[in-house]
Order: sequence, then C-alpha cells, then structure tokens
Amino acid sequence: MTDHTPHRYRDIIAEETVLSSPEPALTLNGVSVRRGNLAVLRDIDLTIPAGSVTVVVGRSGAGKSTLIRALNGLTPVGGGTIRAGGIGSLDTAAAMRAHQRQTATIFQDHALIDRLPAIDNVLLGLADLRHPLSPLPWPDTLRERAAHALDEVGLLAHAWRRTGHLSGGERQRVGVARALVRRPKLLLADEPFASVDPSLMRHLSQDLRRTALASGLTLVVVLHQIETALAMADRIVGLADGRVAFTCHPDQFDTAAQARLFQPYRPEEIGLD
Ligand SMILES: Nc1ncnc2c1ncn2[C@@H]1O[C@H](COP(=O)(O)OP(=O)(O)OP(=O)(O)O)[C@@H](O)[C@H]1O
Ligand SMILES: [Mg+2]
Repeated sequence: MTDHTPHRYRDIIAEETVLSSPEPALTLNGVSVRRGNLAVLRDIDLTIPAGSVTVVVGRSGAGKSTLIRALNGLTPVGGGTIRAGGIGSLDTAAAMRAHQRQTATIFQDHALIDRLPAIDNVLLGLADLRHPLSPLPWPDTLRERAAHALDEVGLLAHAWRRTGHLSGGERQRVGVARALVRRPKLLLADEPFASVDPSLMRHLSQDLRRTALASGLTLVVVLHQIETALAMADRIVGLADGRVAFTCHPDQFDTAAQARLFQPYRPEEIGLD
C-alpha cells in the first residue's frame, strides 16, 4: 500500500490554515490576458488559500509565466478581477501598489548583479523603500534584515562574497533571500530551480516549502519538474491553453492527469501535417 503520510500531514496543515485564515490570499474571477491577437489567459477562476503552497504546471506556452506576471501586476489584466486578501479588488493603482508591497517574486534567471556582494543583492529586494539614487549607505536596520534573510537560506557566511563567484545553487538562494527580505505575504516564483541540478533542486524546493510554511506566507510557484511539484505542493493547478484545466491535491495528480496536461503537441500546432 502506498504511504500517503506526508500528504495527510499537509491536509492537516491546510485545514488549520483554512481555519485560521478564512480569507483566501488571492481570488481570480474570469481573469483574461491578451497579447496582441492571442488570448494568453482565458477566463481563469482560481482561489489561492492563504498559507498554502500552490504549484502551477503545464506545457510550454500554457500561460504559466503570464499568470505569475498577472498576479504581481507586471502584466495588466484585460478582463475579470483579481482580489487579494486584506486589500480587495486590485483594479485600482493604489490597491495594486498595496498588493505589490506585500508581494515578492523569484525569477528564473534570478536577475542578480554579479559584481555586487551577496548582501547587496539581497538589499536590492528593498529598493522600493528608499530613493533609487540615494548616495547614502543602507541603514543598519535594513542591513540586519538582509543578513537575517541570508541566514534563513544558509548563506550568511557568504554575505560579502561577490555574487558572480557563487555556485548556481547559492545564487538561487541569494534570489530567494532577496524575495524573503521583503517579508512578503505572497511569494511568487517562476521556475526558480531551472538552473540547478536535480538533487539540489529537491533540496532547494523543500527548503523553500519549509521557509514558506514557517513564515506563514502564501507561495505560488511554477515548476516544470513533476516530481518536485508533487513533493512541494499542497495544491496543483494545471494550466492548458491559457485555461485552468484542473486544480487538485498532489495525490490526485496521477499519470492520467499528467498525460492530459502534457499531451503531445498536435501536428497543426507546430506547422506539420
Ligand atoms: N509579451 C508577449 N507578447 C506576445 N505574446 C506573448 C507575450 N508573452 C507571452 N506571450 C505568449 O503567451 C503564451 C504564454 O506564454 P507564457 O510565457 O505565459 O507561457 P509559459 O507557460 O510560461 O511557457 P514556458 O513553460 O515555455 O515558460 C505563449 O504563446 C507566448 O508566446
Ligand atoms: Mg514561463
């Protein structure tokens, strides 16, 4: 018989979270995004429970990155509404700014500045707290916050090392620290482990899950690797052709569901006949 203990444990965590935070972190109703003539996201209805780990999967071009960018306000929504817990609808600039202040995003390429020490890259996560051209050194309180974030990802000893001299996994963790230093309520990550090897990926994904649960934040992460998705998620969201194909518990994301989501491209889609 299969041992489902970890997933049962997650159910308990998820249940407690639902009891303690009745308002979802995010609620999407009929959200659509167009790029030129292309409908990239179509009529997305989705609820992201607070304090949970949601993993978004789907084949290339399904709209996963666009969904992340709609959730952090980088891509404007063409139709429908996004509501954030504690804020409400994000359809005004003020509401979106309030949402962005409590949101952090980890990008695939980490967008780090190689010549700067790790701690300075982490401080860049707080750039919106001060004037972009400020010649003053970072205040001690913010430096301490950055050091704490590096400590959380196990990199305090490398704080003053040039970021370009760190390994791929260490750079990835600097990217995570730069997001955590914002003390976000919502953490979005678009394929954050794309540049690390599979065993490190397993390690880092569990670290990220632990950190998210320990800080009580809501994590939405796009992953390509199904095994990592299953190990990390409280809920899986399958996107196909810009729509939510299904939302399920990792236990239910069986090979049939995976096959439906990742069915081979039809010949007409790639110009073959
Ligand atoms: N700025 C843009 N202009 C035009 N089309 C775009 C733009 N951004 C995305 N698209 C299109 O929207 C669709 C979804 O793109 P998106 O990047 O969200 O996919 P994805 O699921 O993240 O794919 P991948 O797994 O390859 O990263 C694709 O067909 C893409 O070509
Ligand atoms: Mg993408």
